[in-house]
Amino acid sequence: MLCQAQQEEEDIMVETDLFDIMYSCRSMRRLKTDPVPFELIHKVIEAGTQGPSGGGVQAWRFVVVAEQQVKEQIAEIYLRGWRGAEANYAKAGLTPENSKNVRAAAYLAEHLAEAPVLLIPCLRARKSHAARLNGPHRETFLRILGGSIYPAIQNMLLACRALGLGASLTTITTLYEDEMRKILDLPEFITTYALIPIGYPKGKFGPVTRRPVEEVAWLNRYGKAFPQQGDTKNP
Ligand SMILES: Cc1cc2nc3c(=O)[nH]c(=O)nc-3n(C[C@H](O)[C@H](O)[C@H](O)COP(=O)(O)O)c2cc1C
Repeated sequence: MLCQAQQEEEDIMVETDLFDIMYSCRSMRRLKTDPVPFELIHKVIEAGTQGPSGGGVQAWRFVVVAEQQVKEQIAEIYLRGWRGAEANYAKAGLTPENSKNVRAAAYLAEHLAEAPVLLIPCLRARKSHAARLNGPHRETFLRILGGSIYPAIQNMLLACRALGLGASLTTITTLYEDEMRKILDLPEFITTYALIPIGYPKGKFGPVTRRPVEEVAWLNRYGKAFPQQGDTKNP
């Protein structure tokens, strides 16, 4: 028999094993409106800042939006962006009626302002960026730039899962950077990279669905089979 504290912990599905956390860290887009203590959001951001960044510079910055009016302004932008994304999904034959993922994404777009917290991971531009953007390795630089914030983002998603908080990685608002800049008073050297709505989940966490390793990993040369799980032969 569980005591009340244990039962509450069970109910919000707090998790401690790293692999269980990763394997059940799916996008939780249906969120309760119950407030999330800032102490937990602090913990989530701190987990993010344990991630790696280019040169260890830690140019990440995080804007936490909890004020209703600001959330509504952002939600309006998000919904506009979602309408475009929704049309693209429809062209590919995916609709809220036949795709669980599109249905959940549509729900989030229509209820974003209800999420207790919108966490917006940003990067601060460095003086060296302008030179690199105008240099011969521009394309490579653009390819790796997000690598200084996405590890932090993944850490934060995992931390949310560990704490029993629902969260999802979204990027639609990055299409409207100028509008986001005005709403959030962002200085010109700050760029947003994502938006993570956070709240207690309405549904239960469950396993993520992913392609098996055998379909996505190769050994030594692209296209050469990587050993199956349980294959004891040393490669
Ligand atoms: C780069 C990137 C951008 C994404 N942008 C959005 C988004 O704007 N809106 C959204 O609802 N989900 C977004 N997602 C979440 C993916 O749709 C989701 O992770 C994927 O469908 C797998 O589902 P799962 O996380 O539930 O396992 C994004 C994910 C990534 C990695």
